[in-house]
Amino acid sequence: MVTHEELNAALLTELVSLEPSGKAIVEHACIETGLFVRSSLCKNQRRKFMKRTLLFVCFLLIAVLGLIATAQSQMPPAPQVDHVGYPEGYQTNYQLLYTLDRPDNRQIRVIYANAVAARAQLGAAFPYGSILVMETWRAKEDSQRNAILDLNGRFQRGELTVIWVMRKEIGFGLAYWPNRTGEWEYVAYRPDKSYQTPPSNSASCAICHLQAGTARDYIFRTANFMNRATGAVPHNLIQNYLFSPGVIRVKAGTTVTWYNDDEVTHRIAANDGSFDSQNMPQGASFSRSFNEQGQFDYRCPIHPQMRATVVVVDSPALQLTNITSSSRDPDFWTGDRWRLEITNASRSSPVYLRLWRDGQDLGISGPYGGVIDAQGNWSLSGAFVSADTGSWQLQALIGGPSSKESTRSLNLTVSNRPQ
Ligand code: HEC
Repeated sequence: MVTHEELNAALLTELVSLEPSGKAIVEHACIETGLFVRSSLCKNQRRKFMKRTLLFVCFLLIAVLGLIATAQSQMPPAPQVDHVGYPEGYQTNYQLLYTLDRPDNRQIRVIYANAVAARAQLGAAFPYGSILVMETWRAKEDSQRNAILDLNGRFQRGELTVIWVMRKEIGFGLAYWPNRTGEWEYVAYRPDKSYQTPPSNSASCAICHLQAGTARDYIFRTANFMNRATGAVPHNLIQNYLFSPGVIRVKAGTTVTWYNDDEVTHRIAANDGSFDSQNMPQGASFSRSFNEQGQFDYRCPIHPQMRATVVVVDSPALQLTNITSSSRDPDFWTGDRWRLEITNASRSSPVYLRLWRDGQDLGISGPYGGVIDAQGNWSLSGAFVSADTGSWQLQALIGGPSSKESTRSLNLTVSNRPQ
């Protein structure tokens, strides 16, 4: 909205400049009345003003349209038609190449290849007909915004956000010139198959993928795909003929992942022969779960000076199962048979239990049953009787009543068997 003052000011300058004769004074006076709209004396001027305002608005419109047009012509060129197409059924029909956990943005990137792309060879261009699909998932996070890992040390999938697709066919990609990346074209879709990045905006894809270079056929992670990388965030990097860090301490049950970030091929072999990665070219990774406590020395057989160690430290694990009915586990009925097991504990040690019943600490008792065996395992079984009803919490202590080696506590309830 234009205010009355603004109208007056605009008119004043305009009229005075338009009419250098004495007339301007009359018109000036007319404006000064302030009753611009109702004044019949000023009708002509008003018409003139309206005309000019209209002209001005038209001019503005043309200018704005022009600006938009120039902005558009400055956008890098891209295909205007979708030659890529939503990759129907890729989750079942394509080959899963690689699952990358990205700690920087807490994303999981899952990369699939159609049958043609899956045949590609390292160092050679992808064959025509190749389609690569990358899903991005939000990883589940804790309150500190750290990704929550699963039992294998991998990120867990939250929401699927984008489906990135690139497709290579004869003559594709011409429209990206001068940012052309071989014969690939790009489109990004949302899970509902609508466009995240339509073809007309996909120059951004080509511009970034240019960095991957001709030698890799503009695909960033070919070496990862083809060298069996797991894509887990590694605990151990292999760089410049070095395992880094040289000693890694993990909790029992951890899957340790090594990643070869060096230019040359390495190999990870346990001194006791318990694991061997085979040859790992650059980009390859290797994972192994360590369930037993102990020290595991390993080396690279290709470069025998490369030596390092995994130390597995942890509290042992306690588990209670309902032998009579697994569906009721951990809620038992009187008469149910139970089995209590400990794994990963120090060998030859006696077992003590700390018990709570209905929230009341009953203290530590034991030793129970035989000692932990040479594999670190122990078990005890029995049946619940009516005197056992209540809700229980129990924890195992290994070695003695004041031992620091303890398990996490377990909860269970025992109720009377329904009649
Ligand atoms: C800022 C740079 C950048 C942009 C922009 C970009 N990408 Fe990527 N793209 C990457 C990187 C880097 C990877 C490898 C995965 C990773 O490290 O996260 C990748 C991987 C991919 C892959 C898996 C195959 C491969 O190269 O490893 C596809 C498919 C893909 N991008 C498609 C697209 C599409 C479609 C667009 C545009 C809508 C796009 N990308 C835009 C950087 C980019």
